[in-house]
Amino acid sequence: MKRDEFSGFFGVLVATVGSAVGLGNLWRFPYLVGQNGGAAFILIYLAFVLIICMPIIVSEFIIGRRTQANTVKAFQILAPGTPWSLVGVMGVIAALAILAFYTVVGGWTFDYLVRSVMYIFSKPDVTSLEQQFTQMVTSPVRPIVWTVLFMGVNAFIVMCGIKKGIEKYSRIMMPVLFLMVLILVARSLTLEGASAGLQFLFKPDFSKINTKVVLAALGQAFFSLSLGMGCLITYGSYIPKNENLNKLAFTTGISDTLFAVLAGLAIMPAVFAFGVSPEEGPGLVFIVLPRIFAQIPLGNVFAVLFFAILLIAAITSVISLMEVVTAYVTERFKMKRKVAVALISVFVTVCASFSSLSQGVLAHVKIFGKSIFDFFDHLSANILLPLGGFFIVIFMGWYLKKEVVYDEYTNKGTLKGTLFSMSYFILRYVAPVAIAAVFLDLILR
Ligand code: PHE
Repeated sequence: MKRDEFSGFFGVLVATVGSAVGLGNLWRFPYLVGQNGGAAFILIYLAFVLIICMPIIVSEFIIGRRTQANTVKAFQILAPGTPWSLVGVMGVIAALAILAFYTVVGGWTFDYLVRSVMYIFSKPDVTSLEQQFTQMVTSPVRPIVWTVLFMGVNAFIVMCGIKKGIEKYSRIMMPVLFLMVLILVARSLTLEGASAGLQFLFKPDFSKINTKVVLAALGQAFFSLSLGMGCLITYGSYIPKNENLNKLAFTTGISDTLFAVLAGLAIMPAVFAFGVSPEEGPGLVFIVLPRIFAQIPLGNVFAVLFFAILLIAAITSVISLMEVVTAYVTERFKMKRKVAVALISVFVTVCASFSSLSQGVLAHVKIFGKSIFDFFDHLSANILLPLGGFFIVIFMGWYLKKEVVYDEYTNKGTLKGTLFSMSYFILRYVAPVAIAAVFLDLILR
């Protein structure tokens, strides 16, 4: 049977941008910008996306499309009889670890979306929003029920396959997502006192730049672009042979960055207009924003809009994570897609339930000094992604033959190979050093 694939440039793009745009853009980015010197951080982040990350996106696409296989098999094909396939295995584990906490937040988002729909009819009690959030996340049943529902939606999409599932739904969700965020930006920018938020986002204060800020920017670029765990290798394996990988990588990187800036524009002016601290973290989205929505004209409608945006962004990222595991399980164990997705979903839901419970009744259980939820978060984002990314650039720059890389980059010589020499140089020298620096910083901290 012919392997499923995306239908063309736009199909691949909505899927990869869908993977990249997620909770990382809507929550983590604005808040990191806040902690790390605002505009100056954004400039460094941009430089990293353009210089270091673009060649890595292309690399993952090349590994995937060359082999047309899941992320473990891809390494087995390109480096038979070597331990390189362990990088693929690590990617599958990273995907599961991210899913184990990301889907819990997806569940919260689902809960808040429904809640905000109900608030259209009855206003929330502003003073108790924080308490409501704590009550919800620490409850032993409620967030798990929402996580199960959230998983159900994702499982359904992934079961439908690449073209008829992931691509089909991303085609609908991604344009809607961008449009909705623009509406939210317009609302936020027209609030009285919005300009303080703009200053915060766009007026660079270079005195705040130090190595920690630089490293935080690189780490965020990695997480936000879904790099380092075979997500883009897996999606790359479904890219038709005649698509220009360089152009795809560039458009993906730019779109994700644009979305991060839009998210900042949607959130920060509102946060500043209401005199709230931008460094709230998870509460920013679930406590502070509802408080703001409760106080602005038509706020209840914008609340629905915001949580719908968050939900869509989370779904298109979760399906990409699930596909990494699904592609591996179906191809490795010759299992039917539907069966594989069902099994993976059950497994993820069980892990996610533990993460969820660790916010409440299991709060005392610690793994390496962290709650279960934080452990999955830390393990994936701070350890597995940078490590995976490091091995991928070493693999591309030093193990794979340059001709192979060039051949796939140029679609067997039919494309010009724009920027190839520069990208290759970055893969060999610049990226490994930069990633090693981030990684060391993250472990040593
Ligand atoms: N990029 C996603 C986000 O910003 C998270 C993610 C990481 C998705 C790794 C897939 C793989 O939320």
